[in-house]
Amino acid sequence: MTLFVTADPANVHHIYTQNFQNYPKGEECAEIFEIVGQGILTTDGDLWRFHRKKLLLAMSRNCYNTFIAKMTQEKIENSILPFLSNAIEQRLAVVDLQDMLTRLSFDMTCILTFGTDPGSLSMEFPVVPFAQVSDDATATIFFRLSRPSAWWKLLRFFRIGPEKRYAEAKVVVDRFIADAIKKRKREMFEGKHVCTDLLYSYLCDENIPNSQEFLRDSILSFLAAGRETVSTSLCWFFWALSQNKQIEEKIMHELNFIHHNTTPKGMVIFDPEELENLVYFKAALLETLRLFPSLPFSFSSVKEPDLLPSGSIVTPGMKIITSAYAMGRMQKLWGKDCMEFKPERWISEKGTLLHVP
Ligand code: HEM
Repeated sequence: MTLFVTADPANVHHIYTQNFQNYPKGEECAEIFEIVGQGILTTDGDLWRFHRKKLLLAMSRNCYNTFIAKMTQEKIENSILPFLSNAIEQRLAVVDLQDMLTRLSFDMTCILTFGTDPGSLSMEFPVVPFAQVSDDATATIFFRLSRPSAWWKLLRFFRIGPEKRYAEAKVVVDRFIADAIKKRKREMFEGKHVCTDLLYSYLCDENIPNSQEFLRDSILSFLAAGRETVSTSLCWFFWALSQNKQIEEKIMHELNFIHHNTTPKGMVIFDPEELENLVYFKAALLETLRLFPSLPFSFSSVKEPDLLPSGSIVTPGMKIITSAYAMGRMQKLWGKDCMEFKPERWISEKGTLLHVP
């Protein structure tokens, strides 16, 4: 394995924008992530562009944004707040926030993707097989990424260890997605479409191949991209607040000035539009993503030999790894206090959010 690992912003800019065509995800990536099929996360060239166009179209519909806002609010009111108030009533000393947030983002991503709430965040913390096997699949993907391909392919051939779990996970994932597509198609056939999720928009689009495979790969990629990224970020966000009382107070102070509704149990819900102008709160989220990026590194391959801005030469056969994690912690970029959680670094003198490319 020849790996080229970089956290140099000039290199990253070159790879992802200036000479993007030269750095496809590559065939090996598609093999490693084979469970998600030929979706947006694993494809290159025309197929990737097609996925991207369709996804952007589906997500830029006004009704989709309204749908997201409504579903998020309902989920908070009907799942998160009852869960937390139950924890208070039961005087629980410890609440597993990571589990709660993973369940929340799984439910939310399912709702946005195919309009059904699997209800994994309910009082009983039910076991959802799809969510469970997703963790096995992620672990195997990491295993594959960090081994020479001949090694994991041998294990795959004999169905040993992580490869056995990967194959089992695929069966569960396929069944879960097939059921979701079947249910949505049936609802549409019965004229019962009530929401505007992604799958609904795909089923209505005559230019989208109606094959089971295309739909499966598209919605699975979306699910895979949304679930852990959001939950991991939220988890680190709350952890950072727990370590920085002053920052928590500043966020609470900012929230005091916006309109909110209070539930009978004294809990508070905000309108999404009200959150638009919260500068300090957004800066704290950006600071979370800087120090704890939920996708800490990305992979690409090399098509033609190329000279990177850092002076390094990369050649076909190399695997390029760009590390957002390292980039977010470089003294050269962020200053001597780069390891400190400091939302202020994202706020300009005028009090607006700074854009960092
Ligand atoms: C805090 C939350 C999130 C973070 C930090 C995040 C981060 C990223 C990053 C870094 C990439 C580029 C990956 C690469 O090229 O290697 C990416 C791609 C993508 N993300 Fe997210 N993401 C988040 C949430 C979501 C959600 C909620 C969804 C949808 C439900 C989503 C859907 C996608 C899709 C479809 C792509 C592929 C885009 C393309 O190839 O054109 N992401 N995300």
